[in-house]
Amino acid sequence: MSEITSSAVAAALASVDTPLLAVALALGSAVPPSLSEFDRAAGGVVGRALTSGDFKGKRDEMVLLYPSGAKPQRLLLVGLGKPGEVTRNSLRRAAAVAAKRARALGVKQFAFTVAAEARNGVAAADLGQVVVEGAAQGAWAFTELKAAPEDPKPEVEAVTLVCDAKELPAVAAGQRVGAAVAAGHRLTRYLQMQPGNVCTPSYLAARAQQLADQYGFALTVLDRARLQTEGMGALLAVAQGSAQEPRFIVLEYKGGGDGAPVALVGKGVTFDSGGISIKPAQNMEDMKYDMSGAAAVLGTFEVLGRLQPKLNVVGLIPATENLPSGTAVKPGDVVRSHLGKTIEIINTDAEGRLILSDALSYVRRLKPAAVLDIATLTGAVVVALGQVAIGVMGNDDALVAEVRDAGERAGERCWPLPLWDDYRELLKSEIADVKNSGGRGAGTITGGWFLREFVDGYPWVHLDIAGTAYTDSDGPHQVKGPTAVGVRLFTEFILKRAAA
Ligand code: BES
Ligand code: MN
Ligand code: ZN
Repeated sequence: MSEITSSAVAAALASVDTPLLAVALALGSAVPPSLSEFDRAAGGVVGRALTSGDFKGKRDEMVLLYPSGAKPQRLLLVGLGKPGEVTRNSLRRAAAVAAKRARALGVKQFAFTVAAEARNGVAAADLGQVVVEGAAQGAWAFTELKAAPEDPKPEVEAVTLVCDAKELPAVAAGQRVGAAVAAGHRLTRYLQMQPGNVCTPSYLAARAQQLADQYGFALTVLDRARLQTEGMGALLAVAQGSAQEPRFIVLEYKGGGDGAPVALVGKGVTFDSGGISIKPAQNMEDMKYDMSGAAAVLGTFEVLGRLQPKLNVVGLIPATENLPSGTAVKPGDVVRSHLGKTIEIINTDAEGRLILSDALSYVRRLKPAAVLDIATLTGAVVVALGQVAIGVMGNDDALVAEVRDAGERAGERCWPLPLWDDYRELLKSEIADVKNSGGRGAGTITGGWFLREFVDGYPWVHLDIAGTAYTDSDGPHQVKGPTAVGVRLFTEFILKRAAA
């Protein structure tokens, strides 16, 4: 699907010539004053929808109306929930709900506005940003690998955000940020969606090369031979069972002079079968999504290229498949990591932490101001937090708070888990410095603790996105499949740091 274009305009709603006008409203029983002029011009449809009780404004609620006398051909009322609880996140969500409906209706373009009374203090620039983010998210579809149906639905190509004339400059500025985030989001979902036979480690490196060419990023790609000279024994151990060569990708965006960079490290397992500790067949196909962390890092670089914030950012992606074969690493094998610590591989399915450990060691030479890693690391985080929140851990409370704050603004919530010393005990090995699995209990925390063993000399946060990287069902605001989680969080984090 092609990119959705967005724009902001100041206009009377009745004069907006569009196949679909979506109006977001908070819970309430009367036509808000800001809509009364429009409602009069439209023959009172809004008032009737509200007084009949057919539309109340509950979150995700929708009613489709056909106004008479006004320019919009269709009117979609979208609920925002309780007026005092409206945030950036509810506005983004309402735009996504509307876009999803626009797609189902087969309209190529739609307009979106928020009743002034429902805004709850959300700033104009934020409004512009989140509406575009939501619209792009809701209109998304992946059709590339299917023959076109006989009666193809047109794609939603454009969204117009209608606002007050005095707010137009701020809304338009936010809209430009939203458009950049939407592009990053789109790239990330695209990469996530690609099957494992397409999206290999070298494919990820080629996509990083494209970004580097397009935006002038510096790029370093290490192949198997270079990884050997570097001493990346943990990444090589995971890769040794696969016919696909591993890659270690380093992308550098320079927007901040000689400032210390923020480093983003993304897990790039392009297919995780579990290796010799093989996974059950049920849903194993979803393990093509095990490169979602890497995809989020690449999508963030798309955003960086478009927005050019004043900050240095480095992206690091250890990329490999995890497959069983006659050359595969075995339970009980001991390998030497890049940092020098030896690792007993108890379970070859705990491969994400192995490849990340070498990246967390490599990153020291870049003298990072902060390192954020993002990974579909543990099934246990799905048990703990479901598909609702990212599991977050780290070695620096201020950085954890900063990341959670960015996640809140982004609508990608992070919930902390403790890295108490007691949990470290679970990773003690009889034969090596550390083992890669601590058993079933506290699985997300022992994953985090393992990574911490390889963090040396910088503030660090780990994001476990195994529950949030993709969904297995359609929601009101989202299409089944990849979510691009991380792109918005990283963007919020970076923009705030760049502005500081
Ligand atoms: N990629 C998986 C984690 C995962 C599970 C992601 C479900 C998405 C959905 C990871 O490599 C893994 O297999 N982790 C193991 C670790 C265990 C062996 C210590 C797990 O969670 O079972
Ligand atoms: Mn695994
Ligand atoms: Zn994995």
